[in-house]
Amino acid sequence: MSNQSGSDEKVARCPMPEIRRIPNDGTPLCPSSTFATWREEGAATPLEYSDGHIGMIINRYELARMVLEDKRFSQSPPRMPAHHGEVLITGYELISGSELDAGNVLGLDGEQHARIRRTILNRYSVKSARSYESDMKEIIAKQFEILKTQPRPVDITKHYSQPISAAGHMRVLGIPEQFRSRYSELFVEESETDQKIAFLREVLAVKKNELAEDVLSDLLRTDLTVPEIEGLTLSLMVSGRDSVAYMISTAMTALLNNPDQLEALKNDPELIHGGMEEFMRVGAMFLTVFPRTATEDIEFGDVKIPAGVSVSVSPVAANHDERQFSDPDRFDLSRDAFGHMGFGHGIHGCVGQQVARVEIKTAVMQLISNTSGLRLIKAEQNEPIPFAHPVATYEAGAVIVDWN
Ligand code: HEM
Repeated sequence: MSNQSGSDEKVARCPMPEIRRIPNDGTPLCPSSTFATWREEGAATPLEYSDGHIGMIINRYELARMVLEDKRFSQSPPRMPAHHGEVLITGYELISGSELDAGNVLGLDGEQHARIRRTILNRYSVKSARSYESDMKEIIAKQFEILKTQPRPVDITKHYSQPISAAGHMRVLGIPEQFRSRYSELFVEESETDQKIAFLREVLAVKKNELAEDVLSDLLRTDLTVPEIEGLTLSLMVSGRDSVAYMISTAMTALLNNPDQLEALKNDPELIHGGMEEFMRVGAMFLTVFPRTATEDIEFGDVKIPAGVSVSVSPVAANHDERQFSDPDRFDLSRDAFGHMGFGHGIHGCVGQQVARVEIKTAVMQLISNTSGLRLIKAEQNEPIPFAHPVATYEAGAVIVDWN
């Protein structure tokens, strides 16, 4: 155009790829429209990382699954995507830089990853998850009694979801009761990695003398090295605890935002099983999972990923891909949402997902069946809120409810 300045002409002749950052104008139940735009542009689009690296974000469902199944990607280096906006909690690092990284399942590749992961699969299997059902019911019933004593309206994230999540996690791992308040202080609130490591060493020292039927006892019975056991314990203490809380609060927000769906669930409690998958699809917590870096040149059709380039799969984007889920923005408990990516997928797919399902389903059903006239007063997550740790996940936020 004749009225363009010299520099504009230069830009017009040599277009720079638009540098993308994770958008922060969405909410857990209503993703940023930017994801839909990117998905229309292609299965992968450029993404900036906080160390200045330019990689890609994977927006479409089919490619997302292929990447997470592909052994040619590595978990290293542990770079994080850049995003717009404020970060609420940063106290989690993928790689601690210490010898404990030998057991950090989410940071490992290949045989070492498979070896470490194998040691915990049994305790988190479908069968084991079923065996925790009655303990979880008891934990949740107790917490509901405490919730009832709170002045109303009440924040269910603080007085229901978080305590249930922490207690359920302690039960499955086998963290002894005397560590309850410190566990919550260090792992529910924010703390330094060194404090977490000192704490887990104390727990493991106690467990050594009282082996039982739980995850930590299993680890102490294996032939893993001490740093491997400690590293895996750290990964397990960190993962899942805030995400189960997030998902209980987000499922409740979804139901309370959609009274017809809440009514349908009350009338047919069996809907909870498929509904659980729909909570995970529509309310995925991870805007991206941890980045994967190509160890060689990799091609998926038109998408070329050169060696050394990092890619970040977005469960939020993939779960709203209309190629996979029809009318994807609609929350519908009766749809078939199985295959969603809320728990990740493939090589590093979530180990704790069966246990998480038991906790979330039980917590939701107990709350809706033991209250009448349950209603939402305010959910922070119905507006854009700051992300949690550096991989960019949503936070539950306060979910204030009341009932008759
Ligand atoms: C609603 C609750 C949960 C959500 C949304 C969730 C989500 C995820 C996601 C998305 C991943 C994959 C990350 C990646 O590929 O970069 C993952 C991995 C993992 N999750 Fe969960 N998770 C939940 C509950 C749990 C629980 C209860 C545990 C129990 C300790 C757990 C333990 C793990 C572990 C150990 C991994 C790493 C597996 C590996 O690297 O092989 N998660 N989770």
